[in-house]
Amino acid sequence: MGQISLPKKGMTREDVFNSLTSFKSDDVKWHEGQLFGLVYEAGPEVEELVKEASALFLIENGLSPMAFPSLVKMETDVVSIVISLSGGDDETVGSFTSGGTESIFMALKAARDWARHTYPRIKEPEMVVPVTAHPAWNKAAHYLGVKINMTAVKDDLRADVAAMKNAITKNTIILGGTAVTYPHGMVDPIEEIAALAEKKNLWLHVDACLGGLMLPFLKRLGNEIPPYDFSVPGVTSMSADIHKYAYTPKGVSTVMYRNRDFRKFQIFAYADWSGGVYATPCLAGARPGGNMAAAWAVLHYLGEEGFMALAQKARAATEKLIKGINAMPQLYVLGDPDATVFAFGSDEINIYELSARMAERGWHIEAQQLPPSLHMTVSPVHLSIADKFLDDLRRITPEVPPADSQDLSEQAAMYAMLGTMPDRSMAREFAVEYINNLYRVS
Ligand SMILES: Cc1ncc(COP(=O)(O)O)c(C=O)c1O
Repeated sequence: MGQISLPKKGMTREDVFNSLTSFKSDDVKWHEGQLFGLVYEAGPEVEELVKEASALFLIENGLSPMAFPSLVKMETDVVSIVISLSGGDDETVGSFTSGGTESIFMALKAARDWARHTYPRIKEPEMVVPVTAHPAWNKAAHYLGVKINMTAVKDDLRADVAAMKNAITKNTIILGGTAVTYPHGMVDPIEEIAALAEKKNLWLHVDACLGGLMLPFLKRLGNEIPPYDFSVPGVTSMSADIHKYAYTPKGVSTVMYRNRDFRKFQIFAYADWSGGVYATPCLAGARPGGNMAAAWAVLHYLGEEGFMALAQKARAATEKLIKGINAMPQLYVLGDPDATVFAFGSDEINIYELSARMAERGWHIEAQQLPPSLHMTVSPVHLSIADKFLDDLRRITPEVPPADSQDLSEQAAMYAMLGTMPDRSMAREFAVEYINNLYRVS
């Protein structure tokens, strides 16, 4: 196969849409709630709202505050609302970013440059985060030249703060904690980590990308949520994604700082360009206005009551699923998850094969490793299909071969192989090759 080139003659509008629609045919049917992650679903009403709102500003560019003051208003309103949900006060500031990865990237960049200013003796900065932290940390550390030291978690799958303390060296500049962790849905002991950060005069970033728009509402509903936000002294910065539990299209997150003195290390400005003085808050140059409008729309449309109602549905679905899974003799939920994300595993059956067989029935459940488990990010829409999911799980699980079986589907065998490779650099190499092959040009 050669490269695909630009068609000489354009297609008809009808053919364009027929093709686009046909591309979707092998995708997961997420509208039916059969996906547990990647898409956060609040139902058709919210989906229509965000589509219409983003269409209204689809072409506008958030690069220029002069040209589009509407976008500045919407993004500052959105950040302000998230600050108010995150225990911030009049001093707290933040920025609108393209996603959790960019938010974490900006926080680490700010911390690195703050440390250059505050601790000029440190030439090779380091950070300490628990192993359950999202790989966006590893990615940011890799890009920014910060060494990452990863520490074990305790049996309850939350950060082991004593291990974090032991991992601090004379070059450490930043600690990280998460609320809630992607692999298992836990809130790390942020108060303890913050006390350590304060004692050692280190920056602390709390990654609330996943929990930032869910935990505040679960708390208002009476759930016990450990303190994790700016109400905890010692928290320097936080990230919270709108494109997760605020149900917007992808490309919307926030990064927040306790005050302007910390955020100034995030901002880039170049004053000598012939195209004019160039300054941006975050990584991106041109930025999509549609996402800012979608975020503004959903926060104002749902309001506190709407978010609480959705949080209640998502938590009820989570509790139903956890109870149903724990009642099955072959399966168990890992730990005691704090919100609407959890993982389940098995000591008896091959969990990856279970995922493959559930996929044959249309359920898409992502595989995890170290230890092997399956990932469940639960959305409000899952409440109505939780029983159906549990029925299928009860039917399929007894047919799945044992954990150490060699008789596995191709997908399950690949996950089992990757998760058990003793040389992790080989697993990494495999992943690089996989991506390199997947995004080939034809
Ligand atoms: C806890 C946590 N942090 C960071 C991220 C990265 O977010 P994004 O994929 O929006 O870049 C995720 C994504 O799931 C996450 O769950």
